[in-house]
Amino acid sequence: MKQIENILNNYRQAVANCQKIADLLVIKADCLGKNGKLNSILKDLKNLTAENKKQLGSLANVAKEEAIKLFDERLAQLERAETLQKLAKNRLDISLTNEVLATGLKGGGLHPLTQISREVEDIFLKMGFDILDGPYIEDEYHNFSALNIPAEHPARDMQDTFWFNDMVHLLRTQTSPIQIRGMEQKKPPFKFLAPGKVFRNEDVDASHEMAFHQIEAMVVGRDIGVPAMLYCLQTTLSKVFARPVDVRLRTGFFPFVEPGFELDISCQICGGKGCTVCKQSGWIEFCGCGLIHPNVLKAGGIDSNEFSGFAFGMGLDRLAMMLYGIDDIRLFHSGDLRFISQFG
Ligand code: FA5
Repeated sequence: MKQIENILNNYRQAVANCQKIADLLVIKADCLGKNGKLNSILKDLKNLTAENKKQLGSLANVAKEEAIKLFDERLAQLERAETLQKLAKNRLDISLTNEVLATGLKGGGLHPLTQISREVEDIFLKMGFDILDGPYIEDEYHNFSALNIPAEHPARDMQDTFWFNDMVHLLRTQTSPIQIRGMEQKKPPFKFLAPGKVFRNEDVDASHEMAFHQIEAMVVGRDIGVPAMLYCLQTTLSKVFARPVDVRLRTGFFPFVEPGFELDISCQICGGKGCTVCKQSGWIEFCGCGLIHPNVLKAGGIDSNEFSGFAFGMGLDRLAMMLYGIDDIRLFHSGDLRFISQFG
């Protein structure tokens, strides 16, 4: 018993003085390991009387428990000290001091698409619109069925869709599902804007990306018609461009609007003469729009005899391309600082 007491005392001292995790492990093995001091005492138990065996055995167990506890506590302390030491060594000053700025180093800036999106949002906020958001992972109800595109309808193939394995969820192909989500939240009359990223399994070229951005607008009220829609689109274009740009309106088919239109901008890269960006047509498809189909209003619980509305979905990347004369949509996601840094 005296021996156990001694072993434990020495152990206590060694653990308390230990400064390195590696040393601590050695101290532990020396005391508690298979051939350690405590175990070698227990091996001699067989020569004792039953009564002594019991006494010594339980003392050895109590000693073992204390030794393990001391080890755990010291290990936690040493680990923490080690972490603090590492942190102190790798300390990084992330504040940009005036001295650093004076060397001409530039800070970060907003991506051009974020800038234009915010500009458009500001225009619409001033007209009293709310801004709504929706999920990237949509279900087929919000992205298609509720938008008057039932299963098996050929219009589902108009947008090449990234489906999840359950064939119910998908990466939204358009911002139009936010029309449905908006109607689930709001009572007419209302108007909102919904900007965001959309995804299509498309062949990528100078004017087509797989992940691009749209801005959706939806206005529902009494006697809302095509003139209100055109006013909104014209206001956006004249404010964003602040220079005359030719546009043309064509009839277009989208199952969720009736009548439906497509608005094109004259290609600002070639001045309308024809180039690879506009596929030699002189025009860039910029926006789908129209009056909201009664079936869509119905899906949103809105009586189409009382209310009507318009919606549009414009391509934000295309808008940025036309605004700044960018001749390849892939530059936006290229991560090329020479491109990005031009936008401050
Ligand atoms: C739509 O996505 C409809 N949801 C738009 C809409 C909303 C119509 C509300 C009616 C009412 P579309 O597939 O045409 O339509 O896309 C709209 C715009 O997104 C296009 O005019 C174009 O500017 C842009 N766009 C489409 N595909 C791509 C692409 N692969 N890369 C970049 N921009 C694209």
